[in-house]
Amino acid sequence: MSISNDEHWMKRAIGLAEKGRGFVSPNPVVGACLVKSGRLISEGFHRHFGGPHAEVEAIRKAGKRGNGTTLYVTLEPCSTYGKTPPCIDAIRETKISRVAIGTVDPNPKHKKRGIAYLRKAGIRVTAGILQEQAQEQIEAFSKWIRTGLPFVILKMAQSLDGKIASRTGSSRWISGPKARLWVHKVRASCDAVLVGKNTVLMDNPRLTVRNGAPVREPWRIVLDEKGAISQNARIFRAGGPVILACSEKFFSLVTKKFRNTKATILSLKSSHGNLDLKQLLGNLGVLGITSLLVEGGGEIAWSFFEKGFVDKVEWVIASKIIGGRDAKTSVEGLGIGMLDKAILLKPTRLIPLGEDFLFEAYVHS
Ligand SMILES: NC(=O)c1ccc[n+]([C@@H]2O[C@H](COP(=O)([O-])OP(=O)(O)OC[C@H]3O[C@@H](n4cnc5c(N)ncnc54)[C@H](OP(=O)(O)O)[C@@H]3O)[C@@H](O)[C@H]2O)c1
Repeated sequence: MSISNDEHWMKRAIGLAEKGRGFVSPNPVVGACLVKSGRLISEGFHRHFGGPHAEVEAIRKAGKRGNGTTLYVTLEPCSTYGKTPPCIDAIRETKISRVAIGTVDPNPKHKKRGIAYLRKAGIRVTAGILQEQAQEQIEAFSKWIRTGLPFVILKMAQSLDGKIASRTGSSRWISGPKARLWVHKVRASCDAVLVGKNTVLMDNPRLTVRNGAPVREPWRIVLDEKGAISQNARIFRAGGPVILACSEKFFSLVTKKFRNTKATILSLKSSHGNLDLKQLLGNLGVLGITSLLVEGGGEIAWSFFEKGFVDKVEWVIASKIIGGRDAKTSVEGLGIGMLDKAILLKPTRLIPLGEDFLFEAYVHS
């Protein structure tokens, strides 16, 4: 099957945008290329927060050769002053003749303003090239900019029979080396990683990114109502900043206990031992955390599902049977009573990872 020229160059721009993942948040990843007579003139991507936008990087590289080109850009060019001047001015000054856009700006304040300005300046604009891919690429940013809340990805690694640990609590490792490497990649692409207190007590995880690539370490968040984890837990050592979320009632005790760690203690409302997740997500959004990777365990997973806070699941299914009625399952809590109340998923991908499989799906809203 042949793809159009527009799709070919947009695919390239989407690939370029990915290079910025993990470094630009709370901005979205963006890629751009300048093309003339079917030839690539220059390209760019948004490299770090506050740095030049993708289209500006491509325009600067092209210099005078940018004149009369088509600009392929994954996201509608900005029309306002932020950390950098508006991209639409650079496009007009370079006399670019056509702008091909992946997706419009999801920010309601800016949506389609850039397109209107470009058209007014006499520049041809085509929007919606590989739109689905371009939108998926910035799904976390889109949610955050519209709602102020992070996009929540729930990641789990379970045996084929649904267990995340054996009946004795042994949980290392459920999945194989390829899947474990993938976990580091997905961690590196998120702004924050979250676990429940039992996971820290039982596994003592670091929750850092260890795949050899340069990264901006994500925030690490532990939900621990009374501050039951140890001050010497590995999470307090090297890695991204730590937030220890506890209940208002235990705030002073927890602050005192963890004063020698560099953790930020976040006080939340709580009910029956469950911290208020809505309040938590609101606080994370204010910090500019656009994407949150919930890594378990089972109790935390159910809490996020029950409240309707999961946007996407990334489920590793290991080719292994663990068994045992007392072994932890990937989603615990009370669960649903009747099947018509089940949380429905919309599967998007099933990817082999060595001997395991990665099942990816969105939660039906
Ligand atoms: N295979 C995997 O992908 C994976 C990933 C992570 C963990 N694990 C395994 O999972 C096991 C731990 O899971 P778990 O289900 O026992 O515990 P968990 O989900 O790690 O932690 C649950 C605890 O967090 C506290 N909590 C605070 N706010 C909460 C809220 N809003 N909702 C729910 N809990 C809240 C509660 O503590 P209180 O008791 O103080 O109320 C609750 O008991 C370990 O064996 C670990 O190895 C596996």
